[in-house]
Amino acid sequence: MIILKSERDLEAMRPACVVASAVLNEVAAFIRPGVTTKQVDVFAAERMKAHGGRSAFLGYRKYPCQTCISVNDEVVHGLANERVLKFGDIVSVDCGVMYRGFIGDTAKTVAVGGCGVIAQRLMDVTAQALYEGIAQALPGNRVTDISRVIQNYVEGNGYGVVREFVGHGVGRTMHEEPQVPNFVDGRCNQKLRPGMTIAIEPMVTAGRPEVKVLKDGWTVVTQDGSLSAHFEHTVLITEGEPEILTCMEKMPSRLKVS
Ligand code: MF3
Ligand code: CO
Ligand code: CO
Repeated sequence: MIILKSERDLEAMRPACVVASAVLNEVAAFIRPGVTTKQVDVFAAERMKAHGGRSAFLGYRKYPCQTCISVNDEVVHGLANERVLKFGDIVSVDCGVMYRGFIGDTAKTVAVGGCGVIAQRLMDVTAQALYEGIAQALPGNRVTDISRVIQNYVEGNGYGVVREFVGHGVGRTMHEEPQVPNFVDGRCNQKLRPGMTIAIEPMVTAGRPEVKVLKDGWTVVTQDGSLSAHFEHTVLITEGEPEILTCMEKMPSRLKVS
């Protein structure tokens, strides 16, 4: 069942998404050569708390960290640890915040200090794939319209789309219907309607699209060791244009924390 959000729901969900976006940006600014992924995760938790929220991930299916931090060939669900980030690494940070009973879910990949043009192009194509998908989040369109443009854009640029993990509805819980694959899957073809809130999140590989889960039970890596990038926004379907909810620029002054 797809849960449509009322205006009243959105009064809580909008700030949840704004906080998630703000924390993600703060974390991105914190990332630099020499910090460990654990330090990044602790910093993220502090910022969530400062904004009055908390991690939506910690404890979800026994997930042990506050955020997902995935480095280089790690695709998603990377676990924070003592790994020291170095110049040229690319880091995908996925930030889910619970605030007033609703969840905002957003992710992006950033370079540590800087990176080469090969990694930069992968990140640019993945971010653009997300925006191509968002542009299809229109009432009357179907989930596959989003999936198709993402797949075409990514594969047209010579990259792979991960099949095993997909976008999703999001609201009071992190994973609601519908599933939003980044490739065309005829089983995921629901019609989009105003009030739906979905997380669109292309996971892109520079090489082959196949992934595997490490022995820690969480970290997803590319099988061929190629680099991966991940961008995600929580998006509201409206009567008109899609509204990107995880957009920090919308932060009302009462939520700002200096
Ligand atoms: N935020 C992830 C997503 O975009 C889900 C993380 S699940 C967790 O769907 F258990 F790793 F937290
Ligand atoms: Co996420
Ligand atoms: Co998500």
